[in-house]
Amino acid sequence: DKGKYRHFMLKEIFEQPNVVAETLEGRVVDHQVYIETLGENATKVFEQLDAIQIIACGTSYHAALVAKYWIEHYLKLPCLVEIASEYRYRETAVLPNSLFVTISQSGETADTLAALKKSKDEGYLASLTVCNSPASSMVRESDLTLLTRAGAEIGVASTKAFTAQLVSLLLLMISIGKAKGMKSSIEHEFVEALEHLPHEIQLALDQAKELEKLSGAFAEKHHTLFLGRGQQYPIAMEAALKLKEISYIHAEAYAAGELKHGPLALIDKEMPTVVVAPNDNLLEKLKSNVEEVRSRGGSLFVFADKSANIQASNGITVFPVDSQYAITAPMVYTIPMQLLSYYVAVIKGTDVDQPRNLAKSVTVE
Ligand code: M6R
Repeated sequence: DKGKYRHFMLKEIFEQPNVVAETLEGRVVDHQVYIETLGENATKVFEQLDAIQIIACGTSYHAALVAKYWIEHYLKLPCLVEIASEYRYRETAVLPNSLFVTISQSGETADTLAALKKSKDEGYLASLTVCNSPASSMVRESDLTLLTRAGAEIGVASTKAFTAQLVSLLLLMISIGKAKGMKSSIEHEFVEALEHLPHEIQLALDQAKELEKLSGAFAEKHHTLFLGRGQQYPIAMEAALKLKEISYIHAEAYAAGELKHGPLALIDKEMPTVVVAPNDNLLEKLKSNVEEVRSRGGSLFVFADKSANIQASNGITVFPVDSQYAITAPMVYTIPMQLLSYYVAVIKGTDVDQPRNLAKSVTVE
């Protein structure tokens, strides 16, 4: 039932504050993370592990890429991320004491499941799935399970499942960190960010009307470029996937530092550029990327924290995002990206919930 919403996708976008709260329920108590379903076995595996391999497809793959930034930054553990359809058909070199992780909304994606089965003979310490479907094949085939609790997702374009994956991966990162002696002060900081996340997502949702207005600038275009840096680069990738999937506008994401290595040649007034600005040490670098695009006549739409102090000017539209905590910024910035794609698709009159040529669950390769 879509309730008061025109599409399931919109309903699912608006469910995200609750989905985050649900995913945290019972797992964050007294500023501490404890995931009951992972239990003793998981702690033993986490203590031993020296590396992590994550496998997924589509949106779930983008969640994995964000997790890689977190795991390498905060745990100093090598984290390899690969698309399932590539991994399953090649000879791989497994790092010693690795944990094999799959991420999947459906738990039935053929390539991810095949990669999981292949991993069993490859010498991993254990397999763990971050999954939204408790009764799925991936849950059955994995040694350990972390359920994302997003509820049934009907829209083919994944929205709330992605946010729940990011929250779960952050909980997983903290759990591994604890087994490896993470300071409780750091754990408390992350928990504080997670506890504020439903509110920050709600603030982002409250801007839906403004995003609807902004979407008119994209609906007539044939291409859009998305730029990000650091942990926001995968968010730019996810934004590009969402836009192409439901509006059929060709969209590409680039790490902003790659502009000069090719994509800058594409910039003209017919190619809007969306920037997902981080509020961290990469901000200054990103500002010069913005200038590179502006000075070539491109129109820019910069999504940035109020404190980032990026000025709107000729060619630059600034869209403020309230995001207080760096660690959860990827989740918060995802919301305006989802809404933007949604409203562009609505203007174009596409079948938002059931885009052409796509299936919700890709159970054949
Ligand atoms: O069920 P899964 O998470 O394994 O699905 C993976 C992809 O097929 C899925 O994320 C797909 O890319 C979505 N349609 C994206 O919106």
